[in-house]
Amino acid sequence: MLGTFWQVWITLITLGSIIGCAVLIMYSSRGMRKEETDQTTGHDYDGIQEYDNPLPRWWVFMFWGTIVFGFIYLGAYGFGNFNGLFTVTVDGEEVTWTSTNQWKAEVQAFDQEIAPLYAKYSATPVADLIHDEEALQSGQRLFKSNCSVCHGSNAKGAQGFPNLTDNDWLYGGAPDTIKQTITHGRQGAMPAWGAVMGEEGTANMVQYVRSLSGLKHDAAAAEAAAPQFQQICMACHGPDGKGNQAVGAPNLTDDIWLYGGSSKQIEFTLKNGRNGKMPAHAEILGTNADAKIHLLTAYVYSLSNK
Ligand code: HEC
Ligand code: HEC
Repeated sequence: MLGTFWQVWITLITLGSIIGCAVLIMYSSRGMRKEETDQTTGHDYDGIQEYDNPLPRWWVFMFWGTIVFGFIYLGAYGFGNFNGLFTVTVDGEEVTWTSTNQWKAEVQAFDQEIAPLYAKYSATPVADLIHDEEALQSGQRLFKSNCSVCHGSNAKGAQGFPNLTDNDWLYGGAPDTIKQTITHGRQGAMPAWGAVMGEEGTANMVQYVRSLSGLKHDAAAAEAAAPQFQQICMACHGPDGKGNQAVGAPNLTDDIWLYGGSSKQIEFTLKNGRNGKMPAHAEILGTNADAKIHLLTAYVYSLSNK
């Protein structure tokens, strides 16, 4: 709602301009000849003279036409606090037209149209749906508009955002697990160990972690850290460093990195911890969310199960 001042301001400017135009055109038509003659106004510019003829009729009518159009437009769409007479149907109710309401109405119409198709997809298990090209294309479109900001348009991820095409999973790659991830989100919790392990302990542990993936490392330093790995890291990453999908602790032995396998990145991870967050999409996806999640699951599942 606009305050009184702005309401008056808008009314004066809008109606004032329209009425102003009407007054201007009436004023300049006043006393104008009705017929064309060859009489001139008497003005003479270096021998060029000006006929004293009426404004072309079609031109004057067009001017009036725009004024009438202005009033119809204001009536339909409204101005200031007047909402206009146009309506659209949102949530089964007639509401005044606004661009937001029009958008909502169109989205709802589309959702209604697509519901039967979604119902068909939802009734098909993910393992079968990956053979349905059209379903996968829908899934891909949903992925591009909802997930690619973080996971990349090719789903190959980026630092901190897992690659979804490599069949290496933080939380697990079974259809139900993927669905769980998308619906409820995930919160990675790698604690910071810098204070616990100290400078030297951390440097040694970096070498140990690199050794797990067979990367170039200082063997003596790695060996020095091995007992501490069993003390503090084993709880989540497992005794052999192969990870634990129940808590999203990555496998540290496969040379596939969420945050990077360089000594610098591993050191940063150990010192400061990491807290990757996958947002819950049950609500973000809006209407037909369950069906959309089913399609998204099929699409993600298909990326590593062709
Ligand atoms: C705001 C960024 C963001 C968006 C948007 C996002 N994700 Fe994620 N996603 C993440 C992060 C970060 C992780 C890793 C969480 C962690 O580190 O524990 C993740 C993890 C996942 C995983 C688990 C991977 C594994 O290895 O177990 C799946 C599956 C997934 N996302 C799918 C999706 C899908 C499908 C969408 C779109 C509906 C989506 N994500 C949207 C950030 C995002
Ligand atoms: C409480 C469980 C827990 C403990 C204990 C733990 N981690 Fe982690 N760690 C995680 C989780 C969960 C992640 C993934 C974080 C994310 O998804 O943002 C992770 C990530 C990492 C990564 C990054 C892997 C990558 O792919 O980039 C490294 C390296 C790592 N941990 C090493 C260690 C070491 C070494 C220790 C022991 C000093 C340790 N972690 C102790 C849970 C744990």
